[in-house]
Amino acid sequence: MNARALNENVRRLGAVDWDRRLFDALIPLPEGTSYNAYLVRGSERTALLDTCEPARRAEFLAQLDEVDRLDYVVLHHAEQDHSGLLPEVLERFPDAVALASPKGAPMLADLLPIPSDRIRAVADNETLELGGRALRFLHLPWVHWPETMTTWLEPDGILFSCDMFGAHLATSDLFARDSARALAAAKLYYAQIMMPYARQIERHLVRLAELPIRMIAPSHGPVFDRPALIFDAWREWVSGPPRRRVVLPRVSMHGSTEKLSDALIAELTERGVAVEPYDLAAPALDRLAASLVNAGAVVFAAPAVWNGPHPAAAFAAAIVNGLKPNLRCLSWIGSYGWGEKALAEFGALCSGLKAEILPPVLCRGRPRPENFSAIRTLAEALAARLPAE
Ligand code: FEO
Repeated sequence: MNARALNENVRRLGAVDWDRRLFDALIPLPEGTSYNAYLVRGSERTALLDTCEPARRAEFLAQLDEVDRLDYVVLHHAEQDHSGLLPEVLERFPDAVALASPKGAPMLADLLPIPSDRIRAVADNETLELGGRALRFLHLPWVHWPETMTTWLEPDGILFSCDMFGAHLATSDLFARDSARALAAAKLYYAQIMMPYARQIERHLVRLAELPIRMIAPSHGPVFDRPALIFDAWREWVSGPPRRRVVLPRVSMHGSTEKLSDALIAELTERGVAVEPYDLAAPALDRLAASLVNAGAVVFAAPAVWNGPHPAAAFAAAIVNGLKPNLRCLSWIGSYGWGEKALAEFGALCSGLKAEILPPVLCRGRPRPENFSAIRTLAEALAARLPAE
């Protein structure tokens, strides 16, 4: 990728990773991703904001050939997809100083082989003059690590937001021109990476709303030159109320659990509750995660295997528990062979959620009329607790 201009003083560097399909050995990347760094030139000094994924070393270092002077390297976040090439950058520019939040500076020293005298902590709201323009550092912890910060550029009105407002989306568009595609990718990104920190992010959004933002430049995906597009979407994902919608991750081995979950879908649909079944036999973490944003309830449908829920459902439960969606209700349904306690493990697997647990519906072997009656009762309980649309 060649460097591209956001305006006459700011250039985007980094790499578009069209073919990467997994991040953190966990997160699917159906549309690839990008690693964005930015070069900001003042009349007196120059700053590089973040570096790049180390796998794209040669491409990124070649982009720095155009830089004849570098005074600062700002590290918004210590995760290596943005910080990993800091040692090479500091070696290339021996007078440059790395800047990070007070929590970020020691984290970088832990993760990367860098001399401690080359890195300095910056305070929240500290301003750095570059000549004709200034960087202001805004500490926004837990977006999504404890050390994260963003940079506000005056007078350009650009918020360099790092992972916040990002999207795993490989695109040749510098700016988000295909709004629907950019927002869909951004929602997946929010769901899989940011949702556990929604309460912290809610406060940060209030703070950022006071800035006259003209452009949001994240570290992944396209730049938003219509900032309200992504800002308003994040507000809804972070603070929007749970909807009249049930997410139903399900797996069946011999059809009994499938019959129960089909019955639940029918009963919920009759009561005006939307259902999003999620087939655990063909897992796609990104779709499951996105469906949890603003969902009202989750019901796991799984048979017992060995002494616990089917492992595909146990994995899904661990994901739901980790992502901490703002659910009103939680329950599980399923078939067992010899021990109904096996499915009670869902309660322990989701112990981090604050949702009300509704009585599960379990059957030994094939479901009978009394089990379908219990499904109807579960549907009534869900319908009564979820808000009207
Ligand atoms: Fe894109 Fe948390 O690193």
